[in-house]
Amino acid sequence: MFETVQAPPPDPILSLIGLFRDDPRPGKIDLGIGVYRDASGNTPILRAVKEAERRLLESETTKRYLGPEGDLAFCAAVSRVVFGGAHPGARLAAVQTPGGGGAVRVLAGLLSHVRPGVTVHVPDPTWSNHYSILEDAGLKIANYPCFDAARGVAAVGPMLEALKRAAPGDAVLLHACCHNPTGAALSHADWEALCEVVEKRGLFPFFDFAYQGFGDGLDEDAYGVRLFAQRLPEMVAASSCSKNFGIYRERTGVAFALGRTAAQAEALLGQMAGVARVLYSMPPNHGAAIVRLILEDQALTASWKQELTGMREAVQAHRDALAAAFRRATNTDHFDFLQHHRGMFSLLGTTPEQAVRLRKEFGVYIVGDGRINLAGLREDQIDPFVTAVLAVCA
Ligand code: LMR
Repeated sequence: MFETVQAPPPDPILSLIGLFRDDPRPGKIDLGIGVYRDASGNTPILRAVKEAERRLLESETTKRYLGPEGDLAFCAAVSRVVFGGAHPGARLAAVQTPGGGGAVRVLAGLLSHVRPGVTVHVPDPTWSNHYSILEDAGLKIANYPCFDAARGVAAVGPMLEALKRAAPGDAVLLHACCHNPTGAALSHADWEALCEVVEKRGLFPFFDFAYQGFGDGLDEDAYGVRLFAQRLPEMVAASSCSKNFGIYRERTGVAFALGRTAAQAEALLGQMAGVARVLYSMPPNHGAAIVRLILEDQALTASWKQELTGMREAVQAHRDALAAAFRRATNTDHFDFLQHHRGMFSLLGTTPEQAVRLRKEFGVYIVGDGRINLAGLREDQIDPFVTAVLAVCA
C-alpha cells in the first residue's frame, strides 16, 4: 500500500509552529500563524470565555450527539453577529462547523454537490489553504488580482475588470475583511462596485469571514457581507469564532448559505448537513457552547465585545508603532502601508529567500510569501524586527 508514499510539501503556515518551537534562540520572533498575543506574548483566554466555561461545567448535563448540523441556537446567535440588521431571516441556512476552515470546506462541498466542478475565482494572493480546500472538494480554481504590491493597497480596478470577464454562474471567493495575507482593505465604495459587478455578471459570492471584529469593528467589518446579503438572492459565507473569541483550538465556526426562499434554505441546510456527515459526522461542541452562552447573556456579550475591542486596538497600535519605526529607520514612508492595513496580517514585500534568511539569521519567523502577523508582535520586538527586515532587504 505505502511503497511509494512520500511526505507532502510542508504547509507554509503550520510548518512554522514546529520550527519556531524548536528554535533555542531567546530573542526569536514569531509572526507566522494568525494568533493574537498580548503584551507579554501570551494568547490569553478571554474573561468572557473563562466565565462561560465555568458555567458550562456546572450546567452541562449530557454529552449526547447533536447531529451533523450542530447546535442551531449557536448558529442563530452567530448569524445575528454576522448579518446584524441585514439578517435575511428564514432564507438563511446555517450549520456549525469545526472552525472557519471547516466552514469553507462544507461550503465547497455544498457547491460541488449543486454545481459539480464549478470554477471558484479566488483572490491572488489568498490564504494558502483555500487552494487545498477547494481542490479537495473537486472545484476548479481561477485567480483574480486583488493587491497592488508596489503601493500596498487593494487593486480594485484590476479586480473588477477580471471579475467582469468571469463566466456567469462562476463563484467568487471574497475575504469579508482583514484580507489574509495582504491586509489591504476595501472601502464602502469598493464593496458597492464589487457587488454591482458580481450581480450584473451573475457570479455567486462565497465569503470567507474569519476575522470579524479585528478590522474596524464587528459591524464595520461586516459591511460587504451585509451589502451582498441585502442585494443578492443567493450567497454563502464561512464565519469563524477562532480569532474574535480567541478559541482557536476549539474549532468553532458556522457555514451560512442564503437561498431565494425559506424552502430553498431548508434544502440547503439538509445539503450542508449531508456534507458534514461525510466529512466529520458532527462538529465538536465545546467552542460552540461557549460562544452560545456568551452571545445569549448580555453581560458576557458586553465583556466579550470590550475584550475584542482591546485586541483590535492593540493590533492597530502595533501597526502604528511598526510603521513609525520603519519611518525612523529608513527616513522614508515606504512602510506606511502597514498603518493603513487592517486585521492581523500585512504582506511585507519580502521574497521567499528573504523570509528564510529572516528565520535562519535573525530568528524572525514570517510566512514565505512575506506575510507577517501584527497581532503576534510585542513592543520590545519592533526594533529588532525592523533591523532584521532592513538587513535582509539591503
Ligand atoms: C492563518 O492564516 O494563520 C490562520 O488562518 C491559521 C491557519 O489555519 O492557517
